[in-house]
Amino acid sequence: MILYNEQNRTLTLHTQRTTYQMKADRRGVLLHLYYGPRVEEADLSGLLQYADRGFSPNPSGSGEDRTYSLDTLPQEYSTCGVGDFRLHSAEVEQADGSLLLDLRYAGHAILPGKYALEGLPAFFGEGWETLSVTLRDPCSGVEAELLYGVDEADDLITRAVRLTNRGTEPVALCRVMSLCLDFNRADLDFVTFNGGHVKERHLDRAPLRPGEQSVGSVRGTSSHQHNPFVILCEHDAGEDHGVCYGAALLYSGNFLAAAERSQFDDARLVMGIHPYHFRWTLDPRESFTAPEAALVCSPDGLTPMTHRFHRAIREKLIRDPYGGKRRPVLINNWEATEFHFDEEKLVAIAREGAALGMELFVMDDGWFGKRDSDFSGLGDWTVNEKKLPGGLEALAPRIRELGMQFGIWVEPEMVSEDSELYRAHPDWALGAPHRPQTQGRSQLVLDFSRQEVRDHIYAALRQVLDSAKAAYVKWDMNRSLTDVWSAAIPAGRQGEVYHRYVLGVYDLLERFRRDYPDLLIEGCSGGGGRFDAGMLYYTPQIWCSDNTDAIDRLRIQCGTTFCYPVSSVGAHVSAVPNGQTGRYTPMETRGVAAMCGTFGYEMDLGKCTDEEKEVVREQVRTFKKRAVLIHQGDYYRLTDPFRNTAYAAWAHVSTDKREALVSLVTGSTTAALPFIVLRLRGLDPDLRYRIDGGERVCGGAALMHAGISFPLIPGDYQARQVYLTAVE
Ligand code: DGJ
Repeated sequence: MILYNEQNRTLTLHTQRTTYQMKADRRGVLLHLYYGPRVEEADLSGLLQYADRGFSPNPSGSGEDRTYSLDTLPQEYSTCGVGDFRLHSAEVEQADGSLLLDLRYAGHAILPGKYALEGLPAFFGEGWETLSVTLRDPCSGVEAELLYGVDEADDLITRAVRLTNRGTEPVALCRVMSLCLDFNRADLDFVTFNGGHVKERHLDRAPLRPGEQSVGSVRGTSSHQHNPFVILCEHDAGEDHGVCYGAALLYSGNFLAAAERSQFDDARLVMGIHPYHFRWTLDPRESFTAPEAALVCSPDGLTPMTHRFHRAIREKLIRDPYGGKRRPVLINNWEATEFHFDEEKLVAIAREGAALGMELFVMDDGWFGKRDSDFSGLGDWTVNEKKLPGGLEALAPRIRELGMQFGIWVEPEMVSEDSELYRAHPDWALGAPHRPQTQGRSQLVLDFSRQEVRDHIYAALRQVLDSAKAAYVKWDMNRSLTDVWSAAIPAGRQGEVYHRYVLGVYDLLERFRRDYPDLLIEGCSGGGGRFDAGMLYYTPQIWCSDNTDAIDRLRIQCGTTFCYPVSSVGAHVSAVPNGQTGRYTPMETRGVAAMCGTFGYEMDLGKCTDEEKEVVREQVRTFKKRAVLIHQGDYYRLTDPFRNTAYAAWAHVSTDKREALVSLVTGSTTAALPFIVLRLRGLDPDLRYRIDGGERVCGGAALMHAGISFPLIPGDYQARQVYLTAVE
């Protein structure tokens, strides 16, 4: 519900459990008053404090009043160069060369439904209201429209910003944040998700320090190193208590998430496109739309925050061709063969998979052009007939004859120097003239800011999809952007290329979605280098990491699922010793770890023993039975794998609380093993649950408070699952 109080000029956004309030004050400055657990006050401006603070300037017209300063008051969208020295939301180079921006309230509108953002991912669906607040710079033609989407039921507030040049001369945007959120407290922890390739989204939590602290990416993608999802929470906030604020940016390129604890012990969070090499010219009457950010405030801990993001992302962001239905269990040939396969090898892997209940075969990298290694071939999306003599027209039907769907790997955004495409169009790769390009995995990045490049790739890939009648595509992207310069953009506008590239990726993905509505697209960037809420709008699942080691995955997947739903986390069982870590883990354990995700296989099942195949068959059966519970249910962390390496546990609980699947994986063993008693979460205390379909029945309250104990599990990296159903 969005309310405007005309008398006080406050705008209040209520969700079921939270309230957000701002106020256009007498000077027209839009002040932020509150965001937190729901309160009913129509005007919280009593919280504002006016004091004469040294070196905090006063706006012109203040006369003798030195108590009003943009430097001390909480701002809804902070400005630049006119008195607020904290993190700024926007920076504009005005026509006169000044970098000054002042923004004052000019009006607002409360609209039914959710705003949409042209060419950008955004939440959608029923039950939304929109608030649009217009701010204007009194001294230039720059106007900012602040957009708020309010999803009352899911406690979600989205934000976006549109800057328009209403002047008569061009201006340049040097920084446009999507979100600015002020707090009148600084006793908060900043939680971020960090790592690198094969070590994505490891949680880091630290109290806000004085000054700025930030994570971000300048790699052209959201990156393996940091994620555009952050949390600010009370120091003692845990899974079930404490106020937490989660903020996700729906963007897949360079981003900045910065928090600042300022001189008076208040705090500000900003999030948006990273200003690194960003400079966007706005001609008169042109607008620029910054990507959407989504906010959840949870009054009672991290778990409810996670649940709200999961539900909203699943139901109001991901466009899943399978809807609420289970997606197919897949087998992918990458870790089994890498580039070295032929048609018979692929069919053999698929046949083994089909016999064990798998439903989709995915042919990974190496099927096209001159592609026997990662040194060549990207860009030439025609079949390598040495490997597949009859082409996709011969292979795909053979897979379907096995009762499986056919899926295929592509890397549309890339080109190898050793390719027909590069030889024909060297200027289609990003790179400045007279400067040798930096290589990444020995490949270059196609200039996706250019329509003709996207059109070419689109046409080539259409042929691939049509000839294979593919049901699934893995859309990979295997390097960071460098040499970001486009031959199609004038010298003075090269600061637009990073963002235009992302818009180009979104444009192409949207075209595939529109023209192949039944196609399941799995995003990928060397594993989880582009795992963000923006990508999930186009690709319902994303390969979570190139690290398939079951034990490492416990942390990677736990970090990922703080924001992103389990159904979006690409997770496979692979062979041992694991290719990334050399570790041996039992097949059972690898299955349990992969079940906290999309679930599939990535190995040569022909090399498994009969016993192992039996385990796999059983796993596939279990997953199919439990997939709806795992993917649509509520996910509960039962341990913290970043701190507890002795064992990790989690549970999936159906929303009606009548069913739960508890998973436990132990670490490396020791003598004198500790007893493991898991106190479950999320059950109905008044229901009684049958354990594993047997005779044992236990009350929900007992399972949550007293716990469930696991007999000693000797040996390294063991796993157990317990299935609970409510007794009628
Ligand atoms: C990186 C991906 O993450 C892998 O799964 C695999 O598809 C390779 N690329 C293929 O080159």
